[in-house]
Amino acid sequence: MQNFYQGKKILITGHTGFKGSWLAKILLNWGADVVGISLPPSTTPNLFEALNLPKEITKNYYFDIRSIDKVKQVVELEKPEIVFHLAAQAIVRDGYDDPFGTHTTNILGTINIMQAITEINSVKAVVIITTDKVYENKEWLYPYREVDALGGYDPYSASKAAADIVTNSYIKSFFNPNTFGERHNTLVAIARAGNVIGGGDWAKDRLVPDMVKAIFEKREDVVIRNPRAIRPWQHVLEPLRGYLMLGQKLYQGEKEISGAWNFGPNEDGFVHVEHLVKTGIEILGQGRYQIAEEVSLKHEANLLKLDINKAGNLLNWRPKWKLEEGLTATFEWYRLFYANDNLINNFTNKQIREYFE
Ligand SMILES: NC(=O)c1ccc[n+]([C@@H]2O[C@H](COP(=O)([O-])OP(=O)(O)OC[C@H]3O[C@@H](n4cnc5c(N)ncnc54)[C@H](O)[C@@H]3O)[C@@H](O)[C@H]2O)c1
Repeated sequence: MQNFYQGKKILITGHTGFKGSWLAKILLNWGADVVGISLPPSTTPNLFEALNLPKEITKNYYFDIRSIDKVKQVVELEKPEIVFHLAAQAIVRDGYDDPFGTHTTNILGTINIMQAITEINSVKAVVIITTDKVYENKEWLYPYREVDALGGYDPYSASKAAADIVTNSYIKSFFNPNTFGERHNTLVAIARAGNVIGGGDWAKDRLVPDMVKAIFEKREDVVIRNPRAIRPWQHVLEPLRGYLMLGQKLYQGEKEISGAWNFGPNEDGFVHVEHLVKTGIEILGQGRYQIAEEVSLKHEANLLKLDINKAGNLLNWRPKWKLEEGLTATFEWYRLFYANDNLINNFTNKQIREYFE
């Protein structure tokens, strides 16, 4: 994969965010030419700056993805060969505070990217990042498969489900794998991953960032809202490897890769929130937690499992790390960052190397 990406022109939207920064770092380490469209980083600290990405990225475009004209201009000017679309309002609870912003960013942002790619003929491979929350959640024990019905209770989940449907429509109507090579030269995949953990996330209302802020910055107890909620936890490098595999195979014209893919953990990664917090505190060797007394009125799913057999069978993608390993990598990252942030760039590169080797 490393050889494949060397020298390729890549557009990442959402490259200033948590997953986008990791993805940009991997691709830059592999010698790709990376341009990005995002808003400036929204937290202090943030991974984008911690990894020196403002300087390392070939070209940073900071604007609102809802501007079709600007999106088209960048695609036209940069002529990327592969696009990873991650830009989104990505926080479930923020969706309740700003449903309009969440829906427009996530749906219109995806329409704009797909429309620009349809009009400007340079892109060979497109990976649209949605989420495991696109599925109509029945709160049952069975894992969701790619063919299951989409839904979405809260604005974030519904907007990502809508973005998923929009992408599927562009695939069927304009980038149909059956007419690849005759009517068009672009293949598109949709990636649905579960909750990711990893160093460098400081978003609000996410469990691991809330934990490290409480322990290292505020020096107070971690407060957890939904101790029994089960999520598919995985280290950020796991789904990113899946996205990169999709990008390569689409670029190489593998038509059967077009469509939706789940990326989630093995069974050991489905644990409840309290378990994750306890394990994190053990790894850090410091911190305490308490369970919030007030009941949140913002509905969040309690049980969400993903079926990853399609990725296992057809892509040969399987999680590399057990949950323990992902948690260790995550909390070691934060421990070093808070001890000496000058060392974090090299440490991140080391984690990337170790994971991919
Ligand atoms: N973090 C997770 O656990 C998780 C799980 C499943 C799916 N996802 C998806 O992965 C993607 C990346 O998530 P993340 O955790 O890195 O989120 P993040 O909040 O850290 O980053 C979001 C990125 O999108 C950009 N963005 C937001 N609104 C924008 C706008 N209006 N115009 C231009 N750029 C805008 C931000 O600038 C940032 O670069 C998202 O699509 C998210 O829905 C995340």
